[in-house]
Amino acid sequence: MKRFAFLLPLLMLLPSNALGYPNGTPFYVTDTSPFCASCHSAVKAEYMPEFPAEAANKELPENKHYALVRMSAPPSPYLELTDEQKGKIINDAKLIDSNSTVSVSGPRRVKAGGEVKIIVKAKGGNGPVIGVMLVDRALRFQSRPIASEGWTIAGEPEVKGQDGKAQKTWLERRIKGLPRNLNFILIENQRFDPEKNIYPEGVVTYTVKAPQSPGSYSLAAAFLYGTENADKAGFFQRPSGRILFSEEIKVQVE
Ligand code: HEC
Repeated sequence: MKRFAFLLPLLMLLPSNALGYPNGTPFYVTDTSPFCASCHSAVKAEYMPEFPAEAANKELPENKHYALVRMSAPPSPYLELTDEQKGKIINDAKLIDSNSTVSVSGPRRVKAGGEVKIIVKAKGGNGPVIGVMLVDRALRFQSRPIASEGWTIAGEPEVKGQDGKAQKTWLERRIKGLPRNLNFILIENQRFDPEKNIYPEGVVTYTVKAPQSPGSYSLAAAFLYGTENADKAGFFQRPSGRILFSEEIKVQVE
């Protein structure tokens, strides 16, 4: 690593979005879990049943995001904005949230080890990318990638972008030779024009092998998106990201 030390000052000059977070996490081309998005606001308090109500409420957009936008003292990263600009950020974010959805679908019964397709449909956020993953439960800090429950993602997920066409850009970022049966998928190249009712969207179809142990398993999709103007949101500390879960479906493995 030492020989790259001279690059460090250069890295610091890059706009912060080159390092990820606003504009997603372009280098984490691997499986992860919703806990990673600690700065994102959670759409519902019920994603954190292990927390006292007050602590769970703090994770909601109203308290985690809008309270910071309105705050007129440090550490608010919004201090330089006028009241009007602040109001617009909040209204725009509310509009985006009300237009953001995610669903998971698939067969409710499967033979142990049997292969099935699980489809995740996500729409919303402000782009330029959105992220989805398949997890066991709709839990903000304790959900796990489905592989932890014994499901195997069999091969490359099929990703369809906003234009409805197959999109391979994310999977192609994997180092040559590494398996591409990823769980976490960024659906890229998203347009956002709320006045024309255009929101990012995409569909990921996972081919999965069911666990070997019979039983009732639950599955949910996690959807990660942003709510502020991505090209101007150069602040890491803005809690303008979101975590939204689909409803949990139950799959009986026989
Ligand atoms: C340091 C705070 C922070 C952490 C940690 C974080 N994010 Fe974010 N993320 C953000 C912000 C801020 C935005 C929203 C940008 C916006 O409002 O448009 C965002 C947005 C996103 C988006 C949507 C793209 C966009 O720009 O709107 C995805 C996808 C995403 N994050 C994935 C992740 C994943 C996966 C992790 C964990 C590996 C993660 N984030 C961790 C701050 C963070």
